[in-house]
Amino acid sequence: MDLITRETLFNQIRFWILDAGSIIRKKINYPLKVGIKSNPQDLVTEMDREVEFFFAEKIKEYYPEHYLLSEEGFGDNLSTSAGTIWVLDPIDGTMNFVHQKQNFAISLGIYHQGIGEIGFIYDVMNNNLYSALRGHGAYKNQKRLPKLDPNKKLDEAIISINHRWLTKNRLIDEKITQQLVKNVRGTRTYGAAAIEFGYVAEGAIDAYITMNLEPWDIAAGRIIVDEVGGCTTNVVGEQVDMLDRSSILTCNPSLQETLINEYLEKAKK
Ligand code: IPD
Ligand code: CA
Ligand code: CA
Repeated sequence: MDLITRETLFNQIRFWILDAGSIIRKKINYPLKVGIKSNPQDLVTEMDREVEFFFAEKIKEYYPEHYLLSEEGFGDNLSTSAGTIWVLDPIDGTMNFVHQKQNFAISLGIYHQGIGEIGFIYDVMNNNLYSALRGHGAYKNQKRLPKLDPNKKLDEAIISINHRWLTKNRLIDEKITQQLVKNVRGTRTYGAAAIEFGYVAEGAIDAYITMNLEPWDIAAGRIIVDEVGGCTTNVVGEQVDMLDRSSILTCNPSLQETLINEYLEKAKK
């Protein structure tokens, strides 16, 4: 994909994301119909569908040759990463959206032949737009984000970690993750993967560790984190294909080796 095409697409999508965000803000206090999907923690609302539909229609109208990979059913069934693919989570953090009316984001990554070209994460209620165009840096609103501190130590780090990692579970030895929690400066849990990627990119947290994300949770975030020199792999350091569901470690590069070798590799059951 050439630079002019990428820039045009970037500017157009930026406009659409802001537009979708303002629709959500306008309707934020409307009564919500909340549906349950695979389990009682997996929620969906008509707003998730409305936002996804909004982008599906834009693609159909302006970029009919592009594909959509997305959460709520308006996307395409894809088995390869060929072509240009929009990877969309219309609302990441639906539980926060329902319960808190904040701390959720629209997350959209554009991939061309499997390569992440454009990433947007829009923290709608805080009106913070994280964005990146591959090779041209990452931004929070109009401000370019600096490269991550190359000398960050684990005992100075804040990590975001899901509480399931700390309780008995079938994937991870919780004694090791409890040790990790003791050895860092602080821990956080925000409940929206895209926002946690955004926080890693701006250095507000230094790592985000999670067990099981879908492609649309990861797509935009990793493009943005890449642009500030961060690393995104699965929790044992392997590359994650853009079509795969996976565990994720996204972090400051100076923490990656320690987190994997000293904790996550050892914790794996
Ligand atoms: C979820 C959120 C949550 C993460 C889950 C995701 P959703 O996305 O990002 O923080 O722990 O794994 O599925 O369902 O709100 O779009
Ligand atoms: Ca999500
Ligand atoms: Ca979602």
